[in-house]
Amino acid sequence: MADVEYLKSQLTAHPDFPKKGIVFLDIFPILRNPIAFETLITHLVHHLTSHTLATSPSKKIDVVVGLDARGFLLGPIIALRLGAAFVPVRKQGKLPGQCVSATYEKEYGTDSFEMQADAIQAGQTVIVVDDLIATGGSAKAAGELIAKQGGKTLEYLFIIELMFLKGGAKLDAPVYSIVQSD
Ligand code: ADE
Repeated sequence: MADVEYLKSQLTAHPDFPKKGIVFLDIFPILRNPIAFETLITHLVHHLTSHTLATSPSKKIDVVVGLDARGFLLGPIIALRLGAAFVPVRKQGKLPGQCVSATYEKEYGTDSFEMQADAIQAGQTVIVVDDLIATGGSAKAAGELIAKQGGKTLEYLFIIELMFLKGGAKLDAPVYSIVQSD
């Protein structure tokens, strides 16, 4: 697909960032270019409306959950286009009011994600959005927060999927990624 090749061409790779041995894939060149950004959002919304919803019995997406931090740059735009709610999942201690929390493994030690306890109602359908899936730990924690509130995750959406880390295998719903990297 032409838009996939176009979006792939906009990504930049940074060897040994943030530390030696990691090739960091940067999505910010897409956001810097309004034509690429529009292509990205249109591609994801088209996928959701023509594939995800077409194969889901619910036929609607109630909530788009964006993951801290780059999921916050994509999620609200997608939510507005769908007429859905946007809900952030943040690192522990950032959200006011009663929260639900879930812990996940990082490269060194663990971290916790939180969501406001009244953000999702039982039975609502949810899409999770982030820029990239690596080990899948943070997406899995987000899925646990959604499930704790009785939400149903329909799909996890990413620009980039690091296939060799097999993060998608940890998740309770299918993954859609635009670019698959080995
Ligand atoms: N997060 C985890 N691995 C990454 C990578 N290779 N590029 C960008 N973000 C990442």
